[in-house]
Amino acid sequence: MSRKLFSRHSLGGKLLPNRVVMAPMNRNRATDWQLAPRAMTAKYYAQRASAGLIVAEGTPVSPQARGCARTPGIYSGRQVAGWRKVTAAVHEGGGRIYLQLWHVGRVGHCSLRADGSPPVGPSTKALHSDRVPILNGSSEPVLVPCDPPRALATDEVRLIVADFVRAAHNAIAAGFDGVEIHAANGYLFDQFRCPYLNDRVDQYGGTTSNRWRFLLETVQAVAEAIGGARVGVRISPLGSAHEMLPDPDPLVTFGYLATRLGQLKIGHLHVYDQEGSWIHDRQGELLPHLRACFPGTMILCGGFDRERAESALRAGCGDLIAFGKHFIANPDLVQRLRIGAPLATWNSTTVYKGGAKGYIDYPALDAAAITAA
Ligand SMILES: Cc1cc2nc3c(=O)[nH]c(=O)nc-3n(C[C@H](O)[C@H](O)[C@H](O)COP(=O)(O)O)c2cc1C
Repeated sequence: MSRKLFSRHSLGGKLLPNRVVMAPMNRNRATDWQLAPRAMTAKYYAQRASAGLIVAEGTPVSPQARGCARTPGIYSGRQVAGWRKVTAAVHEGGGRIYLQLWHVGRVGHCSLRADGSPPVGPSTKALHSDRVPILNGSSEPVLVPCDPPRALATDEVRLIVADFVRAAHNAIAAGFDGVEIHAANGYLFDQFRCPYLNDRVDQYGGTTSNRWRFLLETVQAVAEAIGGARVGVRISPLGSAHEMLPDPDPLVTFGYLATRLGQLKIGHLHVYDQEGSWIHDRQGELLPHLRACFPGTMILCGGFDRERAESALRAGCGDLIAFGKHFIANPDLVQRLRIGAPLATWNSTTVYKGGAKGYIDYPALDAAAITAA
């Protein structure tokens, strides 16, 4: 049986040779003083260049956007220069790579900024139990409780839109093929969406359309800056990460967003299922509804293996399938999926630390293993 996973698909003016996407994953390998990607980050992504598309890790658009130690940013010249080496290595390996643009909102800590300023959010409502990695004078990051956020003033919202536009320009200057705006996982845009966190009385709070206004203004501005076809948005509609409560009306909330994103003619909508279950539930209403509302490319992510990916594609639930953890331990994931070879398992202790270990030292299959598969 021919597999749809290995058929081609057009996105943002590029022809993807397969429908396997590397999902965005922070790996926190920057040195803290310049927060720029290092040479080994270029090697890491180049090893995975056989993916139809790589969506590189969530990358802070400004110092204020940061929520973890050692995440490389996209707001300084050094960072752009570091990313340029990454994109060049991936392109040389025949791949395509987008950058995920990120603002953590309230999920942060004062020590992550030189001026010691607090995290920001739609309101002053704080996280209770979540922790973030900071350096705190130590050589390796330690997990500490988040600091309480400050509520953004209306004018500051517009400044963050401008940060995203600058970051998108920087990403294109660094050689990325496109960008994905991170609106998932309880970070800034998801916080504005959430009616339990967002108690604002300005045009960014209250109704569904007001709570999405910040994201939509950002998407529109970024699309005008670099062209909508190479812009995507990531959401996690039923997610509970970072103490998010279930949306009271996900069909209306996310259906509205998908429709508006369709009208803005962006390239893709990336839907992450944190539970790894509802996407595979044919009775579920949300995914077909999003599909009906959004005419562009839909990427699905969360708990996929080869068979699940194939059945989701054949059922028409999405166009591309993103794999996260499997890509950490299997640089040649596309080849392994193609020939049905066993997948290596990831070492969770080296995910966010360890330098080259657990980052660029996972081997590809050797010739004997390929023949045996
Ligand atoms: C180490 C790690 C880092 C992650 N970082 C990000 C990120 O930067 N942005 C994001 O949207 N999701 C992030 N995720 C979520 C992944 O993109 C993906 O949605 C998740 O791993 C589920 O896919 P999987 O079941 O194939 O692993 C991360 C996941 C892991 C394991």
